[in-house]
Amino acid sequence: MSSTRPMTFSRTDFVVVLTGAGVSAESGIQTFRDAGGLWEEHDIYEIASPEGFRRDPRKVWRFYAARRDQAKDCHPNPAHRALVALEQRLGDRLLLVTQNVDGLHRRAGSTRIVEMHGNLFRSKCTAIGCDGYHVPWDDPKSHEPEMPVCPHCGSLARPDVVWFGELLNRRDLRTVEDAVQRCTVFVAIGTSGAVYPAAGLAHAARRAGARTVLVNKDPAENLGEFDIFLQGKAGETLPVLFDASDA
Ligand code: OAD
Ligand code: ZN
Repeated sequence: MSSTRPMTFSRTDFVVVLTGAGVSAESGIQTFRDAGGLWEEHDIYEIASPEGFRRDPRKVWRFYAARRDQAKDCHPNPAHRALVALEQRLGDRLLLVTQNVDGLHRRAGSTRIVEMHGNLFRSKCTAIGCDGYHVPWDDPKSHEPEMPVCPHCGSLARPDVVWFGELLNRRDLRTVEDAVQRCTVFVAIGTSGAVYPAAGLAHAARRAGARTVLVNKDPAENLGEFDIFLQGKAGETLPVLFDASDA
């Protein structure tokens, strides 16, 4: 850790930060693919696919209600706060793209953010054509009935998270891709580089000419896409990395 030095940015830099489960690990939220991670305990296709939900919606809801309960009791850690500080320095020269659905970046105070895999604290209707299908709603109580229903039409509701086999929200994807095309610095933090399209962003950023940096506890699957690998915990590395004051 001691070798980490503050990153410097010039006035023309545009920075895209991509975060994954590792950023929330030090808040006490389970990651997916580490030892003891969620996909070790649960079958990914039963829990996180449209087919799994059709087969056993109750089981899927139980899983997401448990995730939500866990996230509610956790708090942002120094990694989340360092990214808020980075936003304060860079303003609109930063876009934070997160795969995390726990809402901790927003709770910490980040605002220039795309939650590309959705958010645990929102639901949407399963009925295509319903208003609730297009506009996900916040539902702090939706895990009280085991199977929440859409307030607009009464159909079964589902978590507003992206499952395997599903497309990302088109507008979010466009925002992310545009930012990656024009970024000069791309930093991935706490992500295994195993899930696309997120895992492909480092490659795209580099092709577009950006400097690419990985901050991760372990080498990511797409390690070869990064110019610099800072191995360590996000909560220890980021406060140092983003501490410079030349922005
Ligand atoms: P993973 O669980 O796949 O990877 C977490 C990464 O964070 C691993 O590479 C760890 O080495 C690293 N890590 C763990 N603790 C860390 C810490 N304290 N500091 C820094 N790094 C740490 O999580 P993601 O890459 O986010 O998707 O997973 C991507 C997607 O797969 C998730 O969004 C989710 C999952 O299936 C959906 O549910 C759609
Ligand atoms: Zn509906």
